[in-house]
Amino acid sequence: VLVTHNETSTGVTNDLEAIGHAIKSLPGERPILIADAVSSLGAIELCADAWGYDLVVAASQKAFMTPPGLSFVSVSDRAWPRIQSAGMPRFYWDLRKARSYAERGQTPFTPAVSTLFGLREGLRMMSEEGMGNVFARHRRLGSAMREGIAALGLELFADVACASNTVTPVKVPSGWSAEDLLRQMREQGVILAGGQGPLKGKIVRIAHMGFATLVNVEIILESLRSVLGCSVAK
Ligand SMILES: Cc1ncc(COP(=O)(O)O)c(C=O)c1O
Repeated sequence: VLVTHNETSTGVTNDLEAIGHAIKSLPGERPILIADAVSSLGAIELCADAWGYDLVVAASQKAFMTPPGLSFVSVSDRAWPRIQSAGMPRFYWDLRKARSYAERGQTPFTPAVSTLFGLREGLRMMSEEGMGNVFARHRRLGSAMREGIAALGLELFADVACASNTVTPVKVPSGWSAEDLLRQMREQGVILAGGQGPLKGKIVRIAHMGFATLVNVEIILESLRSVLGCSVAK
């Protein structure tokens, strides 16, 4: 079973704890549970072992505040025998090989060394702040962004009950094109992402993960306010 923890395209965070417990309670042999935590790990809590996730995959470029180029995967004791016995041909993605090299402090292929130095700095910053504080900061960023968007009279795309604390998609207000909105904000130095696939042109997505504070939230809201010309409700 493969679950996405934080859906970056829609700004929805799935309840991985509840899903993990539901899978554990199924009769028969428990399937291997895999989480795509690319836009959550390091910003939104994920207790892989306690919640029953056998593989958790993440990447350097989001909450870890590092350039793109690295991905990481954790593997449970329960998953290793399945990896050993899997018949699917593999070469680059051979986790057995990665594990045996890791025991010697190496990687099977040339690693992105410069990115690893960046990652080391990202991890140092996260450990200095403390993971509990990092998670709390993202909760504050998420709610401040959602409140600010509502105060501007704009509409959130995701239901607040499952809204992500790392990315906030906002519906493009009527009378505006996403392209114009993004371009005008970019001219002010604020870069947001557009929607993907069927959401292209319908939403803009605001990232607030990793190296982000309430000041960034304020700057983004102010840019939205000035471009759209909306007044903040009292
Ligand atoms: C939830 C999620 N999964 C997977 C990916 C793919 O990551 P990458 O672009 O590093 O392959 C992304 C990228 O944004 C993502 O947000």
